[in-house]
Amino acid sequence: MLRQAIRKIPGVPQLIKLNTDFENWWFDWRHGTDTSADRADQARKGWETDTTNHTYVPIRPKCARRVLQALPVTNPQEYTFIDVGCGKGRMLLLALEHSFRTAIGVELRKELSDLAKLNLHNDDRARLCSATCMNVNAMEFEFPDEKLVVYLFNPFGEDVMRTVLENLGRSLESSFRDVWVIMDFPVYANVADSMPYLSFVTEGYDYRIYRAKSPELAAVAA
Ligand SMILES: C[S@@+](CC[C@H](N)C(=O)[O-])C[C@H]1O[C@@H](n2cnc3c(N)ncnc32)[C@H](O)[C@@H]1O
Repeated sequence: MLRQAIRKIPGVPQLIKLNTDFENWWFDWRHGTDTSADRADQARKGWETDTTNHTYVPIRPKCARRVLQALPVTNPQEYTFIDVGCGKGRMLLLALEHSFRTAIGVELRKELSDLAKLNLHNDDRARLCSATCMNVNAMEFEFPDEKLVVYLFNPFGEDVMRTVLENLGRSLESSFRDVWVIMDFPVYANVADSMPYLSFVTEGYDYRIYRAKSPELAAVAA
């Protein structure tokens, strides 16, 4: 409420944009990457108005670090971080700074996944742990049989979100392991809330975090 009121003060949206632009520039300069979004080009391609598969908007590093710090995982080196809808891979690089075992990006649009691969290739930490990006529709992605942190920054519409989270649930039914789900800017949090295998753990101003229940608990909730 307070944040929304502040945003309405004249000049504040411009200041926020300046701050975001600087943050984006600083991230790419420090990492030697290109993770920015060309919104005009994306509009020409029709991505900006696609309500099924959302357009590319990189996460603000500040927001990414906030949610990673809020994640109650004490041993990230045991977990694979998966960014479903990873764009050019900015969040993958930030997750690796947070000491995850490795990171996998899933990206529908080939030109973005090619750039994510290049960004990972140019990063020492990503090369060391063989972080990778797959050019595949999230609905067809098979979750690896490992401890996972699954990250979703508002990548697609409700139907795709449901399919992806149902696929994750089936994967857990065949092989239970510890899995956390982060919904960043959670427009379709209702979908995660409705999954019997997920329990809500914590939330902040712009994220919600869930954890997979044990198979016994999930069966009771179903
Ligand atoms: C809001 S951006 C998030 C970018 C990235 N996660 C980050 O935090 O910087 C959403 C991304 O999801 C991708 N996307 C949309 N629909 C998808 C789908 N069905 N399968 C895989 N990726 C998808 C888009 O191309 C876009 O790159």
